[in-house]
Amino acid sequence: MSRLDEEEREILEAFEEGKLQSVKNLDAELKKHRDYASITARKDKFDLPEFVKVARVEDIPSGGRIWREFEYETVIILNVDGEFYCIADLCTHDDGPLEDGPIDGHAIECPRHGACFDIRTGAVLTLPATVAIPTYLVKVEDGDIYIENLDD
Ligand code: FES
Repeated sequence: MSRLDEEEREILEAFEEGKLQSVKNLDAELKKHRDYASITARKDKFDLPEFVKVARVEDIPSGGRIWREFEYETVIILNVDGEFYCIADLCTHDDGPLEDGPIDGHAIECPRHGACFDIRTGAVLTLPATVAIPTYLVKVEDGDIYIENLDD
């Protein structure tokens, strides 16, 4: 593996660990270390997903949310203070939908038994859940919101 490949791998690992907040930051970091194809063109090398457009930014005002159904999973795309996030619409406690569960800061509360999860990372904040919920990549380009294509 070349030095450039190693640097890119480190950056991607930082992204996966949540140290880089967005795909935009990820791409900017990668561009510091290379002068050729975009991350999209190299996605296969790093197993980055395809993205699918889900909405315009004006479709999800701050505090709002929409749902998107894929073949095997439904996700919620949320706007929290102007930042967009995507989480599974499925509580890990008892498989209840998170649906329109209340949001406090970056925490979403499951309507069924009150488990709370961090929208940014999926981490459990409150029992009775003990397992994190899945979160998915989101990017905004030219006013369009894209999320990972889970049917990919
Ligand atoms: S199903 Fe969500 S807390 Fe029980």
